[in-house]
Amino acid sequence: MWNMNDMPSAVKIVEVGPRDGLQNEQAVTTEAKVALVNALSDAGFQTIEAASFVSPKWVPQMADSGDVLAQIERKPGVTYSALTPNLKGFELAMAAGADEVAVFGAASEAFSQKNINCSIEESLARFAPVMEAAKAQGVRVRGYVSCVLGCPYQGEVPVSEVVRVAKQLHAMGCYEISLGDTIGVGTPLQAQRMLAAVAEEVPMQQLALHFHNTYGQALANIAACLPLGVSVIDSAVAGLGGCPYAKGASGNVASEDVLYMLEGMGIHTGVDLSKAIAAGNAICAALGTKPRSNVSIARSAN
Ligand code: HMG
Ligand code: MG
Repeated sequence: MWNMNDMPSAVKIVEVGPRDGLQNEQAVTTEAKVALVNALSDAGFQTIEAASFVSPKWVPQMADSGDVLAQIERKPGVTYSALTPNLKGFELAMAAGADEVAVFGAASEAFSQKNINCSIEESLARFAPVMEAAKAQGVRVRGYVSCVLGCPYQGEVPVSEVVRVAKQLHAMGCYEISLGDTIGVGTPLQAQRMLAAVAEEVPMQQLALHFHNTYGQALANIAACLPLGVSVIDSAVAGLGGCPYAKGASGNVASEDVLYMLEGMGIHTGVDLSKAIAAGNAICAALGTKPRSNVSIARSAN
């Protein structure tokens, strides 16, 4: 049983805005993407998911990922990572100079088929050569599990399936497993129970939370999970985000809201909140939208 006193003193934020945020947006120039990544590194984010080497037929929004990685100013100490669904993606990511890659699987069969056109087992088989090539080149691989708290196609997802896929990705060599509430439907006790169950099989230090905010529960879910000792949180400035193959899924939890909450709880992040707000405002200006971060809205009203 987990005691509730394992609250971390520091949290690593994985800023996924340039990837998860912009994979769903139509008209964003490469220049605006590069400016976003640079603004994020300047704000102090140490890990930035900047690119995605998936099929441009499936996600045309990410087709300029190589150009983005070529044009950003690389800040020493910052990890610039990329999604890679297969060996082809991995090779493109390496050619573009990604520091780290991420494979992405799901705990739901239906979502796996819709998102990457194969079953869960087939996806794991596709990841094997990626793991092998990455190991040979000394590149770290992150593993995502989508639909950990619900699926847009099959509804409920058994926790046992989340545990099974997370355990398998970890056994294959993923150094960190990111648990995705892809459609943002989970609630706090459910999130806590899911995390506790996965942590029975994968060390808590190697787990990350990736919560979308569709139903406004993401921050509450994170707050419920922190006392269990999880210390890696994925978020996107301005609450950008969504998956083109998960209908109705809105943005990731906003980085600004996570930073404000963690600062208030005395948990260190190393990120400058004001600069994160500015980065979110700038990309929203480029998109012609408004930030979906309560903290950003509140600060801008002052
Ligand atoms: P497929 O059609 O089954 O693959 O797609 P294929 O191997 O038959 O290839 C078809 C074509 O794609 C071929 O080109 C390949 O060369 C090309 P053609 O001969 O037709 O000209 N291709 C590629 N091109 C560039 N880069 C590649 C690549 N692979 C094949 N890596 C595939 C399978 C996985 C490629 C496809 O389904 C795909 O790209 N899916 C990606 C979907 C996606 O990006 N979804 C969003 C990210 S996941 C997410 O957002 C969730 C997450 O945030 C966590 C959470 O919130 O839960 C991570
Ligand atoms: Mg996501």
